[in-house]
Amino acid sequence: MTREEWKNFRGSSETPDQIMLSIKTDPAYALTVRWRTDVSVKEGFALYRKKGSGEAWQRADASVNRFRTDMDESFYFFADMKGLSPDTEYEYSVGSEECRSPLYTFRSARENITDFTFLCVSDIQTGSAEPPADYTALREVLLKFLSGHPECEFILTGGDNTNCGQTDVQWTGLFGGLKGVAERIPVMFSMGNHDDMGFADYYTGEGKYYSEHAEYFTNMLCGSYNKNGPEGWETANYAFDYGNVHFNVLGTSGYEEMNAWLSADADACSKTWKFAVHHFPVCYAGPTIENEDTWPSLREGLEKCDIVFSGHEHSFARSYPRRDEGLYDKPSEGTVHYNLGSGNRNPPGTRVVPKVWNAKTYEHETDLSMLHTVHVSGDKCTLTAYLEDGRIIDRCVIDKKNDIITPIDPAPRYNRPRLKFKGYDLGMCTEHTLPVQKNGVWYLCPGAVMSFTGGTAVRSAGKIRVEIYGRFAEFTENSDVMLTADGGQKMRAPCLRLNEGQLYVPVDDFCRPLRMHPLYFAHNNFISIESETEARPVPVQP
Ligand SMILES: [Fe+2]
Ligand SMILES: [Fe+2]
Repeated sequence: MTREEWKNFRGSSETPDQIMLSIKTDPAYALTVRWRTDVSVKEGFALYRKKGSGEAWQRADASVNRFRTDMDESFYFFADMKGLSPDTEYEYSVGSEECRSPLYTFRSARENITDFTFLCVSDIQTGSAEPPADYTALREVLLKFLSGHPECEFILTGGDNTNCGQTDVQWTGLFGGLKGVAERIPVMFSMGNHDDMGFADYYTGEGKYYSEHAEYFTNMLCGSYNKNGPEGWETANYAFDYGNVHFNVLGTSGYEEMNAWLSADADACSKTWKFAVHHFPVCYAGPTIENEDTWPSLREGLEKCDIVFSGHEHSFARSYPRRDEGLYDKPSEGTVHYNLGSGNRNPPGTRVVPKVWNAKTYEHETDLSMLHTVHVSGDKCTLTAYLEDGRIIDRCVIDKKNDIITPIDPAPRYNRPRLKFKGYDLGMCTEHTLPVQKNGVWYLCPGAVMSFTGGTAVRSAGKIRVEIYGRFAEFTENSDVMLTADGGQKMRAPCLRLNEGQLYVPVDDFCRPLRMHPLYFAHNNFISIESETEARPVPVQP
């Protein structure tokens, strides 16, 4: 489609479209509204007043961002509607003197609220270049869900709002999907990896790249959210307060800066609750997923939060309170990681499995959207995960006062040390070949790890050679030298024959040449082997 054809199809015109409310300061007194026009328009302002009051209109002049996209060139206007009265229905329009939107309505928030509900949804991305991304299904699901849950005061997303953020094809689709929703309740987007993804040619899918500073996301939304994120990473990162909750919304680039910002922000925060949103899950559920960017680089900041909402996996999971490689039972003992699942009939590419850190996993493989209500009531927070057909998949209550999460589900504490791979139990192959501690050194059975992962183990007299992720290591009984692609490497302790007559090697030494590293969960008594690759080892069949 040429730019001219696009202009008549989804291009901007002098009539405002893509109207979306958002929150910067106390929503009892102010809301921000965003819209798009073509570049012929001379000005932009919002007019608002108490609904049906007949009062004079209040006017909020907009700031404007001119942005040339791959398909179009437009003005993006942002007007802060200030001086609102709390808990009041307003009517408003946006546009210029000559060309205005229809009237829409919103309700300002109540004052000093400690009891409210919001809607969470993630990975609402859909569609591709041809036919141009169509978010009609999202719109239908949101409208239906909100009509059944009118208590939802705003929407918070877990990222991947678009399937490919570096094109107007997707953003026009997304805003089409938010029509009838975003004009009346605020939408707080967080960034996902698809939101800063682009192609040199979107229509052929050639030249994939990531825009580190999320060019489209930032230009489309630069006036919608507070510019209070880490310097240089604003818009993708921002914070806001709603009632007794402080929210930190994090992007997907600039991890060091994000962590420092989140950590300092959490320290300075006196709200009852601290919620963060970060697209990539810490307590992931996919068999092969890696989260090396997120963990441990955001650990310090995330661990200061009560709940971290995430997405990316298109599948729901809720963790035990986690802190410092420990899985606990009480909200005071750690952060609950809450993975929001598939928000637009797009179940996961990975087949999720129960992971040791998740109290609840839902193997979401049907084409049904998942939506969540988060109800904060003083020091209690109730999270409910729904499928669009109304079924409830999970409901939990985090009760700060009584320091308890219900339904009661204590984290595992093993009496014999277990071995996990990416949080997944190795099962039968380690029933009698569990890790062993010798002279203060943790040992594992390399053969068992290969049996589980699909790596290769070749056993010969007094030797085991393992191959996985394109690397190999060979261990020799009673020798503290292992053979790797880099030659012989000294180990901290020798290879020993231990349980079931199997050769065992120190965990750290085993991991080093094989693109792995261990996490020790001392409180729970297990080791999880992590890897920075999402490759699926498959043995060669000659
Ligand atoms: Fe996604
Ligand atoms: Fe993602």
